Amino acid sequence: MKLQDKVAIVTGATSGMGRATAVLFAKEGAKVVVTGRNEKRAQEVVDQIKAAGGEAMYVLGDAANLAFCEEIVAKTVEAYGTVDVLVNNAGMLSMSTLQDVSIEEWKNVFDVNVTAALRLAQLVAPIMKAKGKGVIVNIASVASFAAHHGFAAYISSKHAMAGLSKSMAWELGPEVRVNAIAPGCIHTAMVDSIGGVDVLQFMVDGCPMKRVGQPEDIATVALFLATDDSSFIDGQVIKVDGGFEV
Ligand SMILES: NC(=O)c1ccc[n+]([C@@H]2O[C@H](COP(=O)([O-])OP(=O)(O)OC[C@H]3O[C@@H](n4cnc5c(N)ncnc54)[C@H](OP(=O)(O)O)[C@@H]3O)[C@@H](O)[C@H]2O)c1
Repeated sequence: MKLQDKVAIVTGATSGMGRATAVLFAKEGAKVVVTGRNEKRAQEVVDQIKAAGGEAMYVLGDAANLAFCEEIVAKTVEAYGTVDVLVNNAGMLSMSTLQDVSIEEWKNVFDVNVTAALRLAQLVAPIMKAKGKGVIVNIASVASFAAHHGFAAYISSKHAMAGLSKSMAWELGPEVRVNAIAPGCIHTAMVDSIGGVDVLQFMVDGCPMKRVGQPEDIATVALFLATDDSSFIDGQVIKVDGGFEV
């Protein structure tokens, strides 16, 4: 198993690609800490992992609250003794235009999509550096590379996530390897919230693979980046988008 005896925190693992990543990591032997706000879905993920013979727990809270980040790391260390892998996946969408986005919404998007990742990295890096090894995988987006009309805060936050990932690689290495995944259209609740079938068809038409991505398409890349299979890959923002807009 590729993550035997490793301890992994996966934020936003109550749904979508975070859930798929948590389930895959547990299957590969990791003890997984699932985070999110929805207790019912968090319990379902933990139950699914345990039913398959894995080990997991959940910590609930709002990623916009920095005290929650501290609670995640404290409870992980209390339960499992260390942190080997952090996947900063929790994220929220914002569909306001530049003109209409309120400063409150802008700040909330950055708190959830960027600042929580920074804070969690600050908290786990000393643990990883002390043990001489650790991995951080950040979930960015194809919106880290390009903009479209009407998603100003989200796109800006995902551009920031790409820059933050590169800064993390520089400042947390050589012990801690940091990379980001930039998903294209992945069929999750987030994409469904944009507009359902029409949006999915637009994404399928714009991609040479002619299909929408599934959460497992991201989980397998997160696993690759979390293990020594990717031991010389650092500071990269890797598109996993079926070739969208190539
Ligand atoms: N789907 C795509 O096509 C796509 C493309 C590019 C990038 N992404 C990125 O991929 C990541 C995962 O998204 P997804 O598509 O899998 O969406 P999803 O199914 O909606 O999952 C989002 C996850 O983030 C958690 N979350 C959201 N806001 C939170 C908050 N304020 N505090 C704590 N947890 C919060 C949710 O947990 P609760 O509901 O339990 O709070 C949920 O577990 C996000 O960073 C997203 O921006 C998605």
